[in-house]
Amino acid sequence: MVDDLTSKLLSPVSLAGLTARNRVIKAGAFEGMCPGGIPTDELVEHHRRLAAGGVGITTVAYCAVSADGRTFEDQMYMHEEILPGLRKISEAVHAEGGAVAAQLGHCGYFSKNTELTIPRPLGPSGRFNELGVMRGIPFSGGMTKADIGRTVREYGTAAALLKRAGFDAIEMHMGHGYLLSQFLSPLANKRRDEYGGSLHNRLRLPVAAFRAVREAVGEGFPIWAKINLSDGVNGGIEVEDAAQVAQRLESEGIDAIEMSGGFTSMSPMYLLRGDRPLTDMIGVEKNDFQKVALRLFGSTIIKEYPFEELFFLEQAKVIRDAVQLPLIYLGGVSSLENMRTAMAEGFDFVALARALIRDPDMIHKIEKGECAYHTDCNHCNKCIAAMDTPSGTRCVRDEEDFYTS
Ligand SMILES: Cc1cc2nc3c(=O)[nH]c(=O)nc-3n(C[C@H](O)[C@H](O)[C@H](O)COP(=O)(O)O)c2cc1C
Repeated sequence: MVDDLTSKLLSPVSLAGLTARNRVIKAGAFEGMCPGGIPTDELVEHHRRLAAGGVGITTVAYCAVSADGRTFEDQMYMHEEILPGLRKISEAVHAEGGAVAAQLGHCGYFSKNTELTIPRPLGPSGRFNELGVMRGIPFSGGMTKADIGRTVREYGTAAALLKRAGFDAIEMHMGHGYLLSQFLSPLANKRRDEYGGSLHNRLRLPVAAFRAVREAVGEGFPIWAKINLSDGVNGGIEVEDAAQVAQRLESEGIDAIEMSGGFTSMSPMYLLRGDRPLTDMIGVEKNDFQKVALRLFGSTIIKEYPFEELFFLEQAKVIRDAVQLPLIYLGGVSSLENMRTAMAEGFDFVALARALIRDPDMIHKIEKGECAYHTDCNHCNKCIAAMDTPSGTRCVRDEEDFYTS
């Protein structure tokens, strides 16, 4: 017999005009299927497959608002020419009964994109570009107000394109150390103008970007933000700041918040937990300098955090107690039992990345009565290295030699 929590999880739910068939979201997990920034049929199939497996909403990861908002060259960026490719994704997901969200992002100060159209990447303040140093882009610059204005407009244009392409929702990436997260974080934001200093000021760009996206898509089209509970680095934002960020976004009319943590360039394993796949990251790296750097400094720079089921639960409860809007729990969801716990704790949706990379049929299996379902993903995190292989992100645990396939 299906209990109330499982029934709540698996029943249709409405979010700002969208009816999703259940409360399970495939979290944005970079697919590695956009060579040169163009979505491929493999990307279409990747999300069709997730929808066929029963998720309510699948999220297309890291869609940069502009070519210069990419962390590296092979990331999708929003431009008119990819409209047909985007439409293929939304049509394929809808045909399987699912809904599709796009994660809108901008890399800000850290980038290893050698095709930048500007002399160096731009963030809140000029600083060392940890990710780009081995590609000859060691420094970033601070955005002028004109840069900020242009970037805000790019958020709006990108959102309008996604809506035209049939997408059902937009996730604004305000976490993981990307541009909007850099503005929020005192670690990266050293500005002395109205965009820096107090949290109120540091929220100015994220709020402006949200307003531009709302203006572009209108009311009744879900927009949620992925925010950091903690940057996972000394001097970054902590959960008390995150609660204020959530409250401000709620007062601005955002539809939901998804909670995560970590700073991609400084504490990447904070957001993942589990094994640090250094050997495999070196194996798939094409740049010789980067290979050497990873060999020499990888274990010092990339700190390890042990995996725990529901690893963000305690911090996420602080946000739950601070706001009334719908919340998406993310982080270490491994079983139906974990999803039921998230529901019981008052979260409205659950988002999963690795469990669904390992088994895209997870939700259908649960619907068919596998109540004891528990993923056998072992958090080896080799899927992180797989992002850089020709076939892109997938579970490669059982593949003998996946570096070149
Ligand atoms: C292969 C892989 C790629 C990822 N890429 C992204 C990304 O592009 N954007 C993002 O916000 N998070 C990304 N993440 C992080 C996930 O969204 C999620 O926050 C993290 O995996 C924890 O959730 P989980 O325990 O359900 O896997 C990625 C995770 C994995 C495993």
